[in-house]
Amino acid sequence: MNLRLVSASVLSKVIKDGQSLTVALDAVFSSSIEESKDRAFIQALCFGVVRQYHRLDFILLQLLPKPLRNKDTDIKMLLLIGLYQLKYMRVKSHAAVSETVSAAKKKNWAKSLINGVLRRYIREQDDLEKKADQSWSTLYSHPEWLINAIKDDWGEQAQNIFIENNRQPPMVLRVNVSKMTQVAYLDLLTEQLFKADPMPFCTSAIVLEQAVAVEKLPGFSGGVVSVQDTAAQLAAELLDVQPNNSVLDLCSAPGGKAAAILEREPKIKSLLAVDIDKNRIERVTENLQRLGLQADVVVGDASQPGVWVRGKTFDRILVDVPCSALGVIRRHPDIKVLRRESDIEALQIVQQKILNAAWELLVPGGLLLYATCSILKQENENQIGVFLHDHANASEIIINGEWGIKRQFGRQILTGEQGMDGFYYAKLVKQL
Ligand SMILES: C[S@@+](CC[C@H](N)C(=O)[O-])C[C@H]1O[C@@H](n2cnc3c(N)ncnc32)[C@H](O)[C@@H]1O
Repeated sequence: MNLRLVSASVLSKVIKDGQSLTVALDAVFSSSIEESKDRAFIQALCFGVVRQYHRLDFILLQLLPKPLRNKDTDIKMLLLIGLYQLKYMRVKSHAAVSETVSAAKKKNWAKSLINGVLRRYIREQDDLEKKADQSWSTLYSHPEWLINAIKDDWGEQAQNIFIENNRQPPMVLRVNVSKMTQVAYLDLLTEQLFKADPMPFCTSAIVLEQAVAVEKLPGFSGGVVSVQDTAAQLAAELLDVQPNNSVLDLCSAPGGKAAAILEREPKIKSLLAVDIDKNRIERVTENLQRLGLQADVVVGDASQPGVWVRGKTFDRILVDVPCSALGVIRRHPDIKVLRRESDIEALQIVQQKILNAAWELLVPGGLLLYATCSILKQENENQIGVFLHDHANASEIIINGEWGIKRQFGRQILTGEQGMDGFYYAKLVKQL
């Protein structure tokens, strides 16, 4: 099995067919790659190439005598893999060239093309890299529209966001605080020689110095710990669930925030988890089972509660709307390749519908938390501004915290701030 060829097939699925990188990787791992070191190599190549796609593609264009045909996408992917290894991996250059050439198998024309392109890159690397540094799109490897959207919203902070988007994110654990404290779990980790730090402003979050397979984490199968970024963990705290509250978790799958809510307040009256995706919602049930937690789990469209709500109302509602996910690019770099500018407006409309529908299910005096993993104002503070304008019975509770930036409406975490994913939260209360 040629690992570079497998990686090229995964990359074709993402870049040509528009599949998500996680789905494409899972498919090859479950069908053909068993060795964990092979998986790690393929994963490093695929994540790396996708992360640097816009830059590598620009450099490749300078090196190709003529653009490759669509049916030769596999060769284009091999070329990108070759360039990625030469620039970003600790692979000897002659090995990177010869291994990539041999991955082209029987296509002799492609072998000589790959050989020529990669050798020319080695000779002209400095000039080519300098040329790629000249525009932000190729310097930071983001599509032009995304550069402009982030620059428009965040001005001087934009460059830092681009840099953070290309970093490898930390692995963050959520301690099941109904079973163990953050300090006690940290002791357990230290005993087993894991290096880790607590997040001071989030009582459940621990950041690991190095990522590990979850099975190696003490207590993972017994539901003592889960993997979740600190920014996402904050939702449970912000929702401020009280004993005997009925809680609605909209857009719930795979259930990370539902679980965090239940762990934080075991004396909850009920939690209804709703998601439109029947496959993803199965993961809510699986995750809750591992953690020993109880909830009602329903497949449904959050913007059409009439179909599934059966007249119920709720004291607390979490609305974790579908969004552009631009705050989690560092975890899912394929977003830079797959997301289109036109998606944002379509998402904004869905978000508004879900938020409006959710509001009708909240009891007077109840609290609704609006959440996105986006950093675009259009999906965040602008959305809440319009909502407050249109709903006389809604007011905002200001979120104070040792994290994020207070906005006119809500609070924004920009990607990488204190090591976190980019997230937005706004807390709304229904007047009595
Ligand atoms: C950001 S993810 C939710 C993450 C989840 N809350 C967690 O913490 O694990 C957004 C979810 O919205 C769901 N979704 C998208 N449109 C929806 C709709 N109209 N109604 C309900 N769920 C929807 C997607 O299937 C996806 O699972």
